[in-house]
Amino acid sequence: MLDLYLSDQYQKEWDEIVRLSKLDDTASREKLTKYVMEGCRLSTVAPQLNRVVAKDAVVDDGGKGVQCKAGDIVFLNLVHLSIHFLTESAANTSPEIFPDPKKVKLDRPISKYIHFGKGTHSCFGAPFVKIGLTAMLRCVARLPNVRRAPGLEGQLKYVVMGLFRVYMTQEWSNYSYWPTGAQPRRSTSQLTVSFQTTI
Ligand code: HEM
Repeated sequence: MLDLYLSDQYQKEWDEIVRLSKLDDTASREKLTKYVMEGCRLSTVAPQLNRVVAKDAVVDDGGKGVQCKAGDIVFLNLVHLSIHFLTESAANTSPEIFPDPKKVKLDRPISKYIHFGKGTHSCFGAPFVKIGLTAMLRCVARLPNVRRAPGLEGQLKYVVMGLFRVYMTQEWSNYSYWPTGAQPRRSTSQLTVSFQTTI
Protein backbone atom coordinates (compact mmCIF):
# COMPACT_ATOMS: atom_id res chain seq x y z
CA MET A 1 0.00 0.00 0.00
CA LEU A 2 2.85 2.39 0.84
CA ASP A 3 4.52 1.45 -2.42
CA LEU A 4 1.33 2.48 -4.19
CA TYR A 5 0.75 5.76 -2.38
CA LEU A 6 4.40 6.81 -2.67
CA SER A 7 4.32 6.41 -6.44
CA ASP A 8 4.10 9.44 -8.75
CA GLN A 9 0.70 8.29 -9.95
CA TYR A 10 -0.84 8.67 -6.50
CA GLN A 11 1.02 11.77 -5.30
CA LYS A 12 -2.22 13.76 -4.93
CA GLU A 13 -3.70 11.03 -2.72
CA TRP A 14 -0.52 10.86 -0.63
CA ASP A 15 -0.65 14.62 -0.03
CA GLU A 16 -4.21 14.25 1.21
CA ILE A 17 -3.25 11.27 3.40
CA VAL A 18 -0.46 13.38 4.94
CA ARG A 19 -2.96 16.18 5.63
CA LEU A 20 -5.49 13.79 7.21
CA SER A 21 -2.84 12.07 9.31
CA LYS A 22 -2.20 15.30 11.17
CA LEU A 23 -5.83 15.68 12.19
CA ASP A 24 -7.11 13.94 15.25
CA ASP A 25 -10.80 13.35 14.75
CA THR A 26 -13.09 10.51 13.80
CA ALA A 27 -13.88 11.87 10.33
CA SER A 28 -10.22 11.99 9.29
CA ARG A 29 -9.61 8.47 10.64
CA GLU A 30 -12.62 7.15 8.74
CA LYS A 31 -11.33 8.76 5.58
CA LEU A 32 -7.90 7.21 6.11
CA THR A 33 -9.59 3.80 6.43
CA LYS A 34 -11.15 4.39 3.01
CA TYR A 35 -7.68 5.12 1.64
CA VAL A 36 -6.58 1.82 3.23
CA MET A 37 -9.40 -0.07 1.50
CA GLU A 38 -8.56 1.47 -1.86
CA GLY A 39 -4.84 0.91 -1.21
CA CYS A 40 -5.48 -2.78 -0.43
CA ARG A 41 -7.65 -3.15 -3.52
CA LEU A 42 -5.02 -1.71 -5.83
CA SER A 43 -2.00 -3.39 -4.27
CA THR A 44 -3.69 -6.65 -3.36
CA VAL A 45 -1.88 -8.52 -0.65
CA ALA A 46 -3.92 -11.72 -0.93
CA PRO A 47 -3.64 -12.67 -4.59
CA GLN A 48 -6.40 -15.24 -5.01
CA LEU A 49 -9.51 -16.95 -3.70
CA ASN A 50 -10.12 -20.65 -4.36
CA ARG A 51 -13.30 -22.60 -3.98
CA VAL A 52 -14.40 -26.17 -4.69
CA VAL A 53 -17.70 -26.25 -6.55
CA ALA A 54 -20.36 -28.04 -4.47
CA LYS A 55 -22.88 -28.60 -7.27
CA ASP A 56 -23.11 -27.96 -10.98
CA ALA A 57 -23.84 -24.32 -11.72
CA VAL A 58 -23.50 -21.63 -14.33
CA VAL A 59 -21.92 -18.52 -12.88
CA ASP A 60 -22.60 -15.17 -14.49
CA ASP A 61 -19.29 -13.47 -15.23
CA GLY A 62 -20.07 -10.09 -16.71
CA GLY A 63 -22.81 -11.46 -18.96
CA LYS A 64 -20.80 -14.54 -19.87
CA GLY A 65 -22.03 -17.84 -18.42
CA VAL A 66 -19.20 -19.89 -16.93
CA GLN A 67 -20.06 -23.58 -16.53
CA CYS A 68 -18.82 -25.00 -13.22
CA LYS A 69 -19.11 -28.69 -12.40
CA ALA A 70 -19.26 -30.21 -8.91
CA GLY A 71 -15.69 -30.86 -7.74
CA ASP A 72 -14.12 -28.24 -10.00
CA ILE A 73 -11.69 -25.88 -8.33
CA VAL A 74 -12.58 -22.29 -9.06
CA PHE A 75 -9.75 -19.81 -8.99
CA LEU A 76 -10.60 -16.16 -8.58
CA ASN A 77 -7.75 -13.89 -9.52
CA LEU A 78 -7.72 -10.71 -7.43
CA VAL A 79 -4.46 -9.22 -8.52
CA HIS A 80 -3.40 -6.83 -11.15
CA LEU A 81 -0.21 -8.34 -12.55
CA SER A 82 2.41 -7.11 -14.92
CA ILE A 83 1.65 -10.08 -17.18
CA HIS A 84 -0.43 -8.57 -19.91
CA PHE A 85 -3.02 -11.29 -20.38
CA LEU A 86 -4.03 -11.13 -16.74
CA THR A 87 -4.03 -7.40 -16.42
CA GLU A 88 -7.64 -6.87 -17.38
CA SER A 89 -9.00 -9.95 -15.66
CA ALA A 90 -8.27 -9.11 -12.05
CA ALA A 91 -11.36 -8.93 -9.82
CA ASN A 92 -10.01 -5.98 -7.84
CA THR A 93 -9.70 -3.86 -10.96
CA SER A 94 -12.82 -5.03 -12.74
CA PRO A 95 -14.36 -1.93 -14.33
CA GLU A 96 -17.88 -3.36 -13.97
CA ILE A 97 -17.50 -3.48 -10.19
CA PHE A 98 -15.00 -0.65 -9.69
CA PRO A 99 -15.64 1.99 -12.37
CA ASP A 100 -12.47 3.85 -13.28
CA PRO A 101 -10.60 1.06 -11.47
CA LYS A 102 -7.12 2.63 -11.23
CA LYS A 103 -8.55 5.70 -9.53
CA VAL A 104 -8.66 5.99 -5.76
CA LYS A 105 -12.30 6.74 -4.97
CA LEU A 106 -13.45 7.01 -1.41
CA ASP A 107 -17.14 6.56 -2.20
CA ARG A 108 -17.01 2.99 -3.47
CA PRO A 109 -19.62 0.79 -1.73
CA ILE A 110 -17.90 -1.16 1.03
CA SER A 111 -19.79 -4.33 -0.01
CA LYS A 112 -17.94 -4.37 -3.36
CA TYR A 113 -14.50 -4.96 -1.86
CA ILE A 114 -13.34 -8.55 -2.08
CA HIS A 115 -9.70 -8.42 -0.97
CA PHE A 116 -10.66 -9.88 2.42
CA GLY A 117 -12.70 -12.59 0.71
CA LYS A 118 -16.45 -13.04 0.71
CA GLY A 119 -18.96 -15.10 2.63
CA THR A 120 -18.49 -17.66 5.39
CA HIS A 121 -14.72 -17.98 5.06
CA SER A 122 -13.93 -14.32 4.59
CA CYS A 123 -10.98 -12.96 6.51
CA PHE A 124 -11.28 -13.31 10.26
CA GLY A 125 -8.64 -10.63 10.75
CA ALA A 126 -10.25 -7.99 8.50
CA PRO A 127 -11.62 -5.76 11.32
CA PHE A 128 -8.22 -5.68 13.07
CA VAL A 129 -6.36 -5.26 9.81
CA LYS A 130 -8.42 -2.21 8.87
CA ILE A 131 -7.70 -0.58 12.23
CA GLY A 132 -4.03 -1.61 12.16
CA LEU A 133 -3.37 -0.46 8.61
CA THR A 134 -5.14 2.84 9.25
CA ALA A 135 -2.93 3.41 12.28
CA MET A 136 0.17 2.42 10.29
CA LEU A 137 -0.71 4.74 7.42
CA ARG A 138 -1.33 7.55 9.87
CA CYS A 139 1.99 7.01 11.66
CA VAL A 140 4.04 6.84 8.48
CA ALA A 141 2.30 9.81 6.86
CA ARG A 142 2.97 11.88 9.97
CA LEU A 143 6.72 11.42 9.61
CA PRO A 144 8.24 14.53 8.11
CA ASN A 145 9.13 14.45 4.45
CA VAL A 146 8.57 10.76 3.80
CA ARG A 147 9.58 9.83 0.31
CA ARG A 148 10.94 6.97 -1.74
CA ALA A 149 14.71 6.42 -1.53
CA PRO A 150 16.40 7.32 -4.81
CA GLY A 151 17.11 4.75 -7.51
CA LEU A 152 16.86 1.00 -7.05
CA GLU A 153 16.88 1.35 -3.31
CA GLY A 154 13.51 2.99 -3.45
CA GLN A 155 11.84 0.25 -5.46
CA LEU A 156 9.98 -2.69 -4.10
CA LYS A 157 11.64 -5.75 -5.62
CA TYR A 158 9.57 -8.61 -6.96
CA VAL A 159 9.71 -11.39 -9.49
CA VAL A 160 6.79 -13.09 -11.19
CA MET A 161 6.47 -16.76 -10.27
CA GLY A 162 3.72 -18.62 -12.05
CA LEU A 163 0.79 -16.28 -11.91
CA PHE A 164 1.87 -14.16 -8.98
CA ARG A 165 4.29 -11.54 -7.94
CA VAL A 166 6.57 -12.66 -5.16
CA TYR A 167 8.57 -10.10 -3.26
CA MET A 168 12.20 -10.17 -2.29
CA THR A 169 12.76 -10.21 1.44
CA GLN A 170 14.96 -7.49 2.90
CA GLU A 171 18.19 -9.49 2.70
CA TRP A 172 17.29 -10.78 -0.79
CA SER A 173 17.82 -14.37 0.36
CA ASN A 174 14.25 -15.45 -0.12
CA TYR A 175 10.90 -14.35 -1.44
CA SER A 176 7.43 -14.02 -0.04
CA TYR A 177 3.94 -13.46 -1.39
CA TRP A 178 3.79 -10.50 0.94
CA PRO A 179 5.95 -7.46 0.41
CA THR A 180 8.09 -7.24 3.52
CA GLY A 181 11.07 -5.32 2.20
CA ALA A 182 9.61 -1.83 2.45
CA GLN A 183 10.93 0.02 5.46
CA PRO A 184 10.87 3.65 6.37
CA ARG A 185 14.44 4.63 7.33
CA ARG A 186 16.06 7.81 8.41
CA SER A 187 19.18 7.40 6.33
CA THR A 188 20.20 5.73 3.12
CA SER A 189 21.93 2.37 3.33
CA GLN A 190 22.73 -0.51 1.05
CA LEU A 191 19.85 -2.61 2.34
CA THR A 192 16.66 -2.99 0.35
CA VAL A 193 15.17 0.12 1.82
CA SER A 194 12.14 1.23 -0.06
CA PHE A 195 11.44 4.59 1.50
CA GLN A 196 13.47 7.08 3.39
CA THR A 197 12.67 10.09 5.48
CA THR A 198 14.75 13.04 6.52
CA ILE A 199 14.11 15.40 9.37
C1 HEM B 1 -3.84 -7.23 4.85
C2 HEM B 1 -3.98 -8.34 5.60
C3 HEM B 1 -4.90 -9.47 5.24
C4 HEM B 1 -5.53 -9.77 4.08
C5 HEM B 1 -5.50 -9.00 2.74
C6 HEM B 1 -6.27 -10.99 4.31
C7 HEM B 1 -7.04 -11.62 3.35
C8 HEM B 1 -7.67 -12.83 3.55
C9 HEM B 1 -8.35 -13.57 2.51
C10 HEM B 1 -8.50 -13.12 1.07
C11 HEM B 1 -8.83 -14.69 3.08
C12 HEM B 1 -9.55 -15.82 2.37
C13 HEM B 1 -11.01 -15.62 2.34
C14 HEM B 1 -11.70 -16.61 1.49
O1 HEM B 1 -11.15 -17.63 1.06
O2 HEM B 1 -12.86 -16.33 1.22
C15 HEM B 1 -8.46 -14.69 4.47
C16 HEM B 1 -8.79 -15.67 5.39
C17 HEM B 1 -8.48 -15.63 6.71
N1 HEM B 1 -7.79 -14.63 7.36
FE1 HEM B 1 -6.98 -12.99 6.51
N2 HEM B 1 -6.07 -11.39 5.60
C18 HEM B 1 -5.26 -10.50 6.22
C19 HEM B 1 -4.84 -10.53 7.54
C20 HEM B 1 -5.29 -11.42 8.50
C21 HEM B 1 -4.97 -11.37 9.92
C22 HEM B 1 -4.09 -10.29 10.58
C23 HEM B 1 -5.59 -12.41 10.51
C24 HEM B 1 -5.59 -12.85 11.95
C25 HEM B 1 -5.78 -12.00 12.95
C26 HEM B 1 -6.31 -13.14 9.48
C27 HEM B 1 -7.05 -14.27 9.69
C28 HEM B 1 -7.67 -14.99 8.70
C29 HEM B 1 -8.35 -16.27 8.91
C30 HEM B 1 -8.45 -17.03 10.24
C31 HEM B 1 -8.86 -16.66 7.68
C32 HEM B 1 -9.62 -17.94 7.37
C33 HEM B 1 -11.09 -17.70 7.54
C34 HEM B 1 -11.88 -18.96 7.23
O3 HEM B 1 -11.42 -19.83 6.45
O4 HEM B 1 -12.99 -19.09 7.76
N3 HEM B 1 -6.10 -12.49 8.28
N4 HEM B 1 -7.76 -13.55 4.74
